Amino acid sequence: MEYDFLVLGSGMAGLTFAINAAPHGSVAILTKKQRSESNTNYAQGGIAAAIGKDDSWELHLQDTLTAGAGLCDREAVEVLVRNGPRLIHWLIELGAQFDKNPDGSIALGKEGGHSRNRIIHAADHTGYEIERTLLIAARRTPHITVLEHYQALDLIVENGACAGVQVLDTLTGDLFEIRAKAVLLATGGCGQVYLHTSNPLIATGDGIAMAWRAGATMGNMEFIQFHPTTLYHTDAPSFLISEAVRGEGGILRRRDGYRFMPDYDPRAELAPRDIVARAIDAELKKTGDPCVFLDITHLDPEFVQRRFPTIYHTCLQYGVDITKEPIPVVPAAHYTCGGVWTDLDGRTTIPRLYACGEVAYTGVHGANRLASNSLLEALVFAERAALHATTRLDELPPKPKPSCIMAQLPPIEPAPEIHDHAYNWDADRLQIRKVMQKKVGIVRTVQRLNEARCELEQLAPQIEAAYRMLSPTVESCEARNLVACALLITHSALARKESRGLHYVLDYPETREEFAACPTLITT
Ligand code: FAD
Ligand code: SIN
Repeated sequence: MEYDFLVLGSGMAGLTFAINAAPHGSVAILTKKQRSESNTNYAQGGIAAAIGKDDSWELHLQDTLTAGAGLCDREAVEVLVRNGPRLIHWLIELGAQFDKNPDGSIALGKEGGHSRNRIIHAADHTGYEIERTLLIAARRTPHITVLEHYQALDLIVENGACAGVQVLDTLTGDLFEIRAKAVLLATGGCGQVYLHTSNPLIATGDGIAMAWRAGATMGNMEFIQFHPTTLYHTDAPSFLISEAVRGEGGILRRRDGYRFMPDYDPRAELAPRDIVARAIDAELKKTGDPCVFLDITHLDPEFVQRRFPTIYHTCLQYGVDITKEPIPVVPAAHYTCGGVWTDLDGRTTIPRLYACGEVAYTGVHGANRLASNSLLEALVFAERAALHATTRLDELPPKPKPSCIMAQLPPIEPAPEIHDHAYNWDADRLQIRKVMQKKVGIVRTVQRLNEARCELEQLAPQIEAAYRMLSPTVESCEARNLVACALLITHSALARKESRGLHYVLDYPETREEFAACPTLITT
């Protein structure tokens, strides 16, 4: 099979690229499950853009830089916030139905770290509405083919440039190649590398691992965002309780009812996520409780049900009526701030290979992503990447500026002998996720990071050897990608000898001025 443009992933980044590239050539979108299954589909709170009367792109820029704790790329943030309003209108023109005020203007919610109300939303299922809109638009656009249940395994690199991908048909087990003039990684993040995550099962960091194996430069992988509030329930996966709940007045309390957030930050429940997640972590360690509580019982029950229908019904399913009782919550891994290094046009360091959305490191999130900026990033940079790929494909690839934090992670070599456990992909996957949860979580120490590195370095060659020996399966590919992502996160975390934003290390509690504007770059 051969196409002009090959898009890996059918979330917001992949679909936006495809719709913009299709007028210039044939596009195939490869997706490993059914087309709507993506992080995008589960996004709750909304998408940030400075469209309010009291707002401006300059204020959005300032809030993003503040949340990013000195590590955002200012130019990238400017591209993000300046293009936001225009692209929100593009989504509306395509048919997206966002919540409106009684006067017909777009309703704007509030989330942590934003100095203005600027979150455009569709109740608490904004991602579903966006995914629905983009899938319909893609179906209507000539020259787009969606290939479901096709899992990309590895990139094909020929003469130094990306020429396509190796693919597994997950329904038949067949292996084949798809070739293209340009390939876009839009495979999302790697939340599944942690035991507790808000992410769906698809988020196994496949694109991150594939790009790293192919020799692309990676950026800032240590910055993993933990969302402060996912439902704590023994039978529930980590279901997200949107930050918009705190935006509407939700209060975080301990089991004894004490409101603890003002003790940590004057912005209380609406402080940036790293601060809220660390405060909850500290309270749980102090009290020994398994969870804290998010209380919205003081809000009008009718408003709660209308504004948060998904959260209301899901919690009710688990026996929690959020209009009558506080919601038990814990932090969980939510967003991969780093990823495959790209320039402002979505270009990676490998010619003809682009990356957009959560898989990419563009520099916009710095050390901590501002709430609701990730859907916007996927939208803005996918449009730019499509423009570049369709008009300037043959330009020489960009080079990242050297940074004062550079690390190397050589490719994983297969172990000469395989222990039995390497055939048990579920066990390997669980081991990776447990190690990461326990040793590379919200609060880190050098000793625990080194212990994680050793365990992962023992496991990775076993997985690689078993992967090469057996026919690839969804499970084996994902285990291989998860361990690669886990190693990238752990090595990056060890390389950054300071605390900044989401990366908090007890051995280096200070933020060091000399590391401001220094992303952690990893090469093979
Ligand atoms: P995704 O939407 O994750 O799409 C990735 C695609 O790649 C999927 O189609 C997947 O199947 C496919 N794929 C992966 N690997 C392969 C492979 N090997 N081969 C083929 N296909 C593959 N952000 C906000 O800005 N606002 C919010 O309100 C918000 N809420 C969120 C709520 C939840 C519960 C979660 C999990 C995330 C939320 N986020 C939010 C983050 C945001 O949803 C994501 O960052 C964003 O949707 C990423 O879009 P994407 O297109 O890059 O990737
Ligand atoms: C949420 O609704 O809290 C998620 C928002 C985000 O991840 O940006």
